[in-house]
Amino acid sequence: MTILITGATGAVGRHLAASLVERGERVRATSRKPGDARLAAGVEVVGADLAGPSSIGAELFDGVDRMFVFPFAHGVDEVVTAAVAAGVRRFVVLSSLAAAGEFPRDIGSASYTHHLAIERAVTSRTGEWTVLRPGTFANNLLSWAWTIKAGAPVRAPYVNSAQAPIHEKDVADVAAAVLTRDGHGGRTYALTGPQSLTRVEQVAAIATGIGRDIRLLEISPDEFRADVSPFIPEDIIAMLLAYWSDTVAAPDEVRPGVRDLTGQSGRTLEQWARDHRADFA
Ligand SMILES: NC(=O)c1ccc[n+]([C@@H]2O[C@H](COP(=O)([O-])OP(=O)(O)OC[C@H]3O[C@@H](n4cnc5c(N)ncnc54)[C@H](OP(=O)(O)O)[C@@H]3O)[C@@H](O)[C@H]2O)c1
Repeated sequence: MTILITGATGAVGRHLAASLVERGERVRATSRKPGDARLAAGVEVVGADLAGPSSIGAELFDGVDRMFVFPFAHGVDEVVTAAVAAGVRRFVVLSSLAAAGEFPRDIGSASYTHHLAIERAVTSRTGEWTVLRPGTFANNLLSWAWTIKAGAPVRAPYVNSAQAPIHEKDVADVAAAVLTRDGHGGRTYALTGPQSLTRVEQVAAIATGIGRDIRLLEISPDEFRADVSPFIPEDIIAMLLAYWSDTVAAPDEVRPGVRDLTGQSGRTLEQWARDHRADFA
């Protein structure tokens, strides 16, 4: 039987596809540009724009019994409906810790609303689901890459706030574990990286990982807003500022999900930086 991965050319999906092939699984992956997918050898790549349900042919689900559901902005309801009708029996959903609504800042935030809708698109259609709720991705720190490449100081507000960024490979390893082992149906897993680090410590970990000195300049929330408002919508800026502001007094807690599900402690931020050295070079 085949595992279908949506969002397969993304940071998580790419590692997930490779990891499943290594485990001997048959893998089909979707991409809007299959010719550019460059996925691991052995992965069957099919062209599909899942935001346009007309591109979902029944052949997409031929022989598929398990599916990794990427949280697309549009189209997840239609894709899951078609998958259930075609006989897919197990779904693993990429959601977000924001969907847990553990903190007042999460309730009604862009991430909370979006990811809860994604979870419901699956959990309302089948009983055979597992939801993965990662916290902040280490990849978000790639937003510092241009500044670091230029040798300029990283500009960040709330430098003493502490988060537990997760490596995309750890999210993928957890997804591979729950897709290939029984006993995870109806379960929701919170996932974080293995360390809660202040932003000062995050900069230091990246500096060690890439072998370069990096300066950090603390800026005010208003300066941050002015820096990023040309590129980031206001609801996302507000969500980020609320997160960093809250995690000064209440640092992110490290969750045991990665260790429990993979048997390995998650990868450190220093390791993530080493893996992304080319992005900072
Ligand atoms: N950033 C965080 O801190 C955080 C925390 C928790 C959860 N998350 C969730 O994780 C997601 C990011 O995961 P990631 O980093 O692995 O993704 P990513 O690197 O941003 O990749 C996005 C993927 O979506 C695919 N895609 C987009 N629109 C599509 C469409 N209409 N039809 C088919 N494929 C489409 C792209 O494939 P093609 O271009 O090949 O079609 C690509 O594979 C976020 O969107 C968020 O929902 C993020």
